[in-house]
Amino acid sequence: MRNQILIPTILASALALGFAIAGYTQEKTEVRHIPAPNTDIASGVAMYGAYCAVCHGADGKGNGPAATAFKVAPTDLTLLAKKNGGKFPDFKVSNAIRGDGSVTAHGSREMPMWGDVFRDINRDESKVTLRVHNLTQYIASLQQK
Ligand code: HEC
Repeated sequence: MRNQILIPTILASALALGFAIAGYTQEKTEVRHIPAPNTDIASGVAMYGAYCAVCHGADGKGNGPAATAFKVAPTDLTLLAKKNGGKFPDFKVSNAIRGDGSVTAHGSREMPMWGDVFRDINRDESKVTLRVHNLTQYIASLQQK
Protein backbone atom coordinates (compact mmCIF):
# COMPACT_ATOMS: atom_id res chain seq x y z
CA MET A 1 0.00 0.00 0.00
CA ARG A 2 1.20 3.45 -0.84
CA ASN A 3 0.54 5.03 2.52
CA GLN A 4 3.04 2.79 4.19
CA ILE A 5 6.71 3.29 4.78
CA LEU A 6 9.51 0.84 5.10
CA ILE A 7 10.68 0.33 8.60
CA PRO A 8 13.14 -2.22 9.84
CA THR A 9 12.01 -4.57 12.58
CA ILE A 10 15.09 -3.52 14.48
CA LEU A 11 13.46 -0.14 14.95
CA ALA A 12 10.27 -1.65 16.33
CA SER A 13 12.40 -3.67 18.70
CA ALA A 14 14.28 -0.57 19.72
CA LEU A 15 11.06 1.25 20.50
CA ALA A 16 9.73 -1.65 22.53
CA LEU A 17 12.91 -2.57 24.33
CA GLY A 18 14.78 0.68 24.60
CA PHE A 19 18.47 0.04 24.97
CA ALA A 20 18.17 -3.63 24.19
CA ILE A 21 18.84 -2.53 20.59
CA ALA A 22 22.50 -3.46 20.91
CA GLY A 23 21.51 -7.11 21.18
CA TYR A 24 20.03 -6.96 17.71
CA THR A 25 22.84 -5.31 15.85
CA GLN A 26 24.51 -8.57 14.87
CA GLU A 27 21.34 -9.95 13.34
CA LYS A 28 20.27 -9.42 9.79
CA THR A 29 17.82 -6.56 9.70
CA GLU A 30 14.44 -7.36 8.21
CA VAL A 31 12.44 -4.56 6.77
CA ARG A 32 8.67 -4.41 7.05
CA HIS A 33 5.98 -1.83 6.43
CA ILE A 34 4.16 0.31 8.94
CA PRO A 35 1.77 3.18 8.23
CA ALA A 36 3.64 6.47 7.86
CA PRO A 37 3.20 8.50 11.04
CA ASN A 38 2.02 12.09 10.73
CA THR A 39 4.62 14.68 11.69
CA ASP A 40 5.02 18.43 12.07
CA ILE A 41 5.26 19.80 8.52
CA ALA A 42 7.21 22.80 9.77
CA SER A 43 9.95 20.77 11.41
CA GLY A 44 12.63 19.35 9.16
CA VAL A 45 14.36 17.78 12.12
CA ALA A 46 11.19 16.01 13.34
CA MET A 47 10.37 14.70 9.87
CA TYR A 48 13.95 13.58 9.34
CA GLY A 49 13.89 11.68 12.64
CA ALA A 50 10.56 10.01 11.82
CA TYR A 51 11.17 9.09 8.17
CA CYS A 52 14.82 9.23 7.24
CA ALA A 53 17.11 8.46 10.16
CA VAL A 54 16.23 4.77 10.07
CA CYS A 55 18.21 4.44 6.83
CA HIS A 56 20.38 7.54 6.57
CA GLY A 57 21.32 7.61 10.27
CA ALA A 58 20.49 10.20 12.92
CA ASP A 59 23.54 12.19 11.81
CA GLY A 60 22.79 11.78 8.09
CA LYS A 61 25.91 9.73 7.39
CA GLY A 62 24.03 6.77 5.94
CA ASN A 63 24.39 4.31 8.80
CA GLY A 64 20.89 4.00 10.22
CA PRO A 65 19.70 0.69 11.70
CA ALA A 66 18.04 -0.35 8.42
CA ALA A 67 21.04 0.54 6.26
CA THR A 68 22.36 -3.01 6.02
CA ALA A 69 19.07 -4.32 4.62
CA PHE A 70 19.62 -2.61 1.26
CA LYS A 71 21.74 -3.50 -1.73
CA VAL A 72 22.48 0.17 -2.34
CA ALA A 73 23.79 1.84 0.81
CA PRO A 74 21.76 4.87 1.86
CA THR A 75 23.60 7.99 0.72
CA ASP A 76 25.74 9.94 3.19
CA LEU A 77 23.59 13.06 3.21
CA THR A 78 26.28 15.20 4.87
CA LEU A 79 28.54 15.08 1.79
CA LEU A 80 26.10 16.28 -0.87
CA ALA A 81 27.56 19.80 -1.07
CA LYS A 82 31.12 18.54 -0.94
CA LYS A 83 30.46 16.13 -3.80
CA ASN A 84 28.90 18.96 -5.79
CA GLY A 85 31.83 21.36 -5.81
CA GLY A 86 30.88 22.93 -2.46
CA LYS A 87 27.36 23.93 -3.51
CA PHE A 88 24.39 22.18 -1.94
CA PRO A 89 22.30 20.77 -4.85
CA ASP A 90 18.85 21.90 -3.62
CA PHE A 91 16.93 20.95 -6.72
CA LYS A 92 18.47 17.51 -7.09
CA VAL A 93 17.91 16.77 -3.40
CA SER A 94 14.27 17.86 -3.35
CA ASN A 95 13.62 15.79 -6.47
CA ALA A 96 15.31 12.78 -4.91
CA ILE A 97 13.10 13.12 -1.82
CA ARG A 98 9.87 13.72 -3.72
CA GLY A 99 10.62 10.87 -6.06
CA ASP A 100 9.50 12.27 -9.36
CA GLY A 101 11.88 13.24 -12.09
CA SER A 102 14.67 10.94 -13.15
CA VAL A 103 17.31 12.11 -10.71
CA THR A 104 17.89 8.66 -9.30
CA ALA A 105 19.63 6.89 -12.12
CA HIS A 106 19.83 3.49 -10.43
CA GLY A 107 17.61 0.87 -12.02
CA SER A 108 15.95 -0.29 -8.82
CA ARG A 109 15.30 2.58 -6.54
CA GLU A 110 15.52 1.66 -2.85
CA MET A 111 14.81 5.15 -1.60
CA PRO A 112 11.10 5.51 -0.92
CA MET A 113 9.03 7.95 -3.04
CA TRP A 114 8.28 10.44 -0.30
CA GLY A 115 5.99 12.56 -2.46
CA ASP A 116 3.51 9.66 -2.54
CA VAL A 117 3.84 8.99 1.19
CA PHE A 118 3.28 12.66 2.07
CA ARG A 119 0.37 12.92 -0.37
CA ASP A 120 -1.34 10.07 1.45
CA ILE A 121 -0.93 11.90 4.76
CA ASN A 122 -2.41 15.05 3.25
CA ARG A 123 -3.60 15.45 -0.33
CA ASP A 124 -2.86 19.18 -0.34
CA GLU A 125 0.01 19.47 -2.84
CA SER A 126 1.33 22.66 -1.23
CA LYS A 127 1.79 20.71 2.01
CA VAL A 128 3.65 17.95 0.16
CA THR A 129 5.94 20.59 -1.33
CA LEU A 130 6.46 22.22 2.05
CA ARG A 131 7.46 18.90 3.63
CA VAL A 132 9.96 18.25 0.86
CA HIS A 133 11.27 21.82 1.13
CA ASN A 134 11.75 21.68 4.90
CA LEU A 135 13.47 18.31 4.67
CA THR A 136 15.76 19.68 1.97
CA GLN A 137 16.60 22.67 4.18
CA TYR A 138 17.33 20.36 7.09
CA ILE A 139 19.69 18.24 4.98
CA ALA A 140 21.38 21.43 3.77
CA SER A 141 22.10 22.21 7.44
CA LEU A 142 23.89 18.86 7.86
CA GLN A 143 26.54 19.54 5.20
CA GLN A 144 30.20 19.08 6.07
CA LYS A 145 32.55 21.79 4.92
C1 HEC B 1 14.30 2.63 3.37
C2 HEC B 1 15.57 3.32 3.48
C3 HEC B 1 15.55 4.81 3.21
C4 HEC B 1 14.79 5.75 3.85
C5 HEC B 1 13.75 5.55 4.93
C6 HEC B 1 15.17 7.02 3.27
N1 HEC B 1 16.14 6.84 2.32
FE1 HEC B 1 17.03 8.29 1.23
N2 HEC B 1 18.07 6.87 0.21
C7 HEC B 1 18.07 5.53 0.49
C8 HEC B 1 18.98 4.84 -0.41
C9 HEC B 1 19.26 3.34 -0.42
C10 HEC B 1 19.54 5.84 -1.24
C11 HEC B 1 20.59 5.60 -2.33
C12 HEC B 1 20.09 5.88 -3.70
C13 HEC B 1 19.05 4.93 -4.25
O1 HEC B 1 18.80 3.83 -3.78
O2 HEC B 1 18.45 5.29 -5.24
C14 HEC B 1 18.94 7.11 -0.82
C15 HEC B 1 19.20 8.33 -1.40
C16 HEC B 1 18.75 9.56 -0.92
C17 HEC B 1 19.05 10.85 -1.51
C18 HEC B 1 19.84 11.06 -2.79
C19 HEC B 1 21.18 11.65 -2.51
C20 HEC B 1 21.89 11.96 -3.81
O3 HEC B 1 22.74 11.17 -4.19
O4 HEC B 1 21.56 12.96 -4.42
C21 HEC B 1 18.47 11.81 -0.73
C22 HEC B 1 18.51 13.33 -0.90
C23 HEC B 1 17.76 11.11 0.33
N3 HEC B 1 17.95 9.75 0.18
C24 HEC B 1 17.01 11.74 1.31
C25 HEC B 1 16.15 11.07 2.17
C26 HEC B 1 15.20 11.73 3.04
C27 HEC B 1 15.03 13.24 3.20
C28 HEC B 1 14.50 10.74 3.68
C29 HEC B 1 13.35 10.89 4.65
C30 HEC B 1 12.18 11.65 4.16
C31 HEC B 1 15.04 9.47 3.22
N4 HEC B 1 16.03 9.71 2.30
C32 HEC B 1 14.62 8.24 3.66
C33 HEC B 1 17.33 4.89 1.44
C34 HEC B 1 16.40 5.50 2.26
